[in-house]
Amino acid sequence: MPSPSPARRRILSGVQPSGKLHLGNYFGAVKQHIALQDEADCFYFIADYHALTTISDPNVLRENTRDVALDYLALGLDPQKATFFRQSDVPEVTELAWILSTVTNMGLLERAVSYKEKVDKGIEASVGLFTYPMLMAADILIYRSHLVPVGKDQVQHIEMTQDMAGKFNRAYGEVFPIPDFRLDKESKVPGIDGQKMSKSYGNTIEIFAEGKPLQKRVMSIVTDSKTVEEPKDPAQCNVFALYSLFATDTERQTLAERYRAGGMGYGESKKLLLDKINQYFAPAREKRRELVRNPDTVEGVLRASAKRARAEAQTTMALVREAVGMKPASVS
Ligand code: TRP
Repeated sequence: MPSPSPARRRILSGVQPSGKLHLGNYFGAVKQHIALQDEADCFYFIADYHALTTISDPNVLRENTRDVALDYLALGLDPQKATFFRQSDVPEVTELAWILSTVTNMGLLERAVSYKEKVDKGIEASVGLFTYPMLMAADILIYRSHLVPVGKDQVQHIEMTQDMAGKFNRAYGEVFPIPDFRLDKESKVPGIDGQKMSKSYGNTIEIFAEGKPLQKRVMSIVTDSKTVEEPKDPAQCNVFALYSLFATDTERQTLAERYRAGGMGYGESKKLLLDKINQYFAPAREKRRELVRNPDTVEGVLRASAKRARAEAQTTMALVREAVGMKPASVS
């Protein structure tokens, strides 16, 4: 069990259950998030309340939530070290979102870039989509988090959270630490078409793809049309960039020299990349298969974590309710 000593820094992040994770997610965020479990008191959750702003099919929500849980656990998230739960298993967070809404100016939400981008993309402009940043602030503040690892696109949401926490504290007393953010690595992971790997570009290689489908993805990575004999520039090559994520320095240099020397075709470097992906994720694939065979284990992990998270949320809510002039909720 993680010891929730107040002196330890609390790190929190939410993951959208938006389908299968890909190499860009892994090297940009997931890998670092999992590594942090050894350094701090980490709370990670699957943001299923938030997902309702974009997913309206219950089966899709269920499956995506399960996939994220399986992926994280298979990749090494250790529920003995980190608290890993479903957002909706702690319904108190929606109560805090309401209370925060009363200290949040319309103007603040109206400036949200992410909301505008989503609406421009054709996502329905529901009230939930508009107030998304308030629920996100509640996620962060209800666990009195200190640090939030996020991608660049989420920084504005953290700044809004700081604003809401400051306003609440000034109005009602110091209840919330003001959280800071930590930027995930700027993803240098190219997709199979050479643009940044992203689900919205349809250019991803999924972490848990294997066999023929994985091979097809790797073989379709875009390269220039140099012949086998011609010398090639590793710095310009998507296959080389992806290989570098998995290789040791020596392996990377060896491959770079073979590129420059000529005599090696892209078919061969793709094969080397494929071997690397297979080797690197072999233990995680094995673990994932084992978890799929034991769905009760996964559910048990999520529920045990949710219990810890909920206790923490209820402690915060008792402080919040008291601060604003309500009676503490009677807790079952
Ligand atoms: N909005 C985040 C994203 O799209 C997910 C998220 C929800 C989150 N709540 C959070 C991230 C709280 C950090 C902290 O990636």
